Amino acid sequence: MSIPLRNTTSRYGLVSQGFHWLIVALILFQYTWAWRIDQAEGIRVRFELVTQHKTIGMVVLGLAILRVLWRLFNRPPPLPEAMRAWERVAARAGHWGLYLLIFAVPLSGWMYSSAAGYADFWWGPVSFPSLVEPSETLEDSLHLVHQALAISLGVLALIHALAALRHHFINKDDVLRRMLPSWQNKD
Ligand code: HEM
Ligand code: HEM
Repeated sequence: MSIPLRNTTSRYGLVSQGFHWLIVALILFQYTWAWRIDQAEGIRVRFELVTQHKTIGMVVLGLAILRVLWRLFNRPPPLPEAMRAWERVAARAGHWGLYLLIFAVPLSGWMYSSAAGYADFWWGPVSFPSLVEPSETLEDSLHLVHQALAISLGVLALIHALAALRHHFINKDDVLRRMLPSWQNKD
């Protein structure tokens, strides 16, 4: 099985696929952790889980930066000819919305943690700078912003996933397959 590293005119390459599915997996992990934080009893357990949530969130932010850089020099395969104009607009808007949110969600979390006075969390020997001065009012607002953006990301990702499944099972085109490593084509 050989998958090209770069995107071709008919499929996503290994690097784009790797970014896509790794970020999907980490985001799913983030929602699970947010739920576990909510359920956690005991300050120490909670602290550990929040630290892990922040660390993984910062990894998502780093991957999002690399992913956009890769995307700038690597055009995605064109959408299938059969798609109507409104479907193309919706697909593009959805993709750009998702790109925006994989930055906005971790950034809002980082700002929220800064306002709460806990931005100096650790990740190995690295610590992250505080983005805003600690303030209780700001902390409350940024918590709501982080929550609202995380919900928006979840909703948009769900619509996006349903659209991908619709392409596969109803339109019976290659849109889902070309984002999967196992698919072989003539390229
Ligand atoms: C893709 C990345 C992320 C996702 C999907 C995500 C998602 C969430 C969700 C769903 C919640 C629960 C909202 C609530 O409190 O009701 C939450 C809480 C939180 N997030 Fe994130 N987050 C991400 C990244 C980050 C980052 C990078 C930080 C900080 C550096 C962060 C800090 C927090 C904190 C401190 C809480 C509150 C935990 C508590 O209840 O004490 N998040 N996040
Ligand atoms: C947190 C979850 C997700 C995020 C943030 C996300 C993000 C994205 C983004 C930004 C793109 C556009 C890539 C580009 O052309 O530059 C994309 C494409 C794609 N995604 Fe997702 N995605 C998520 C979940 C899923 C899931 C669960 C599925 C499958 C059920 C899926 C299937 C696809 C497919 C098939 C494409 C290619 C669309 C095309 O060929 O135009 N995604 N995704």
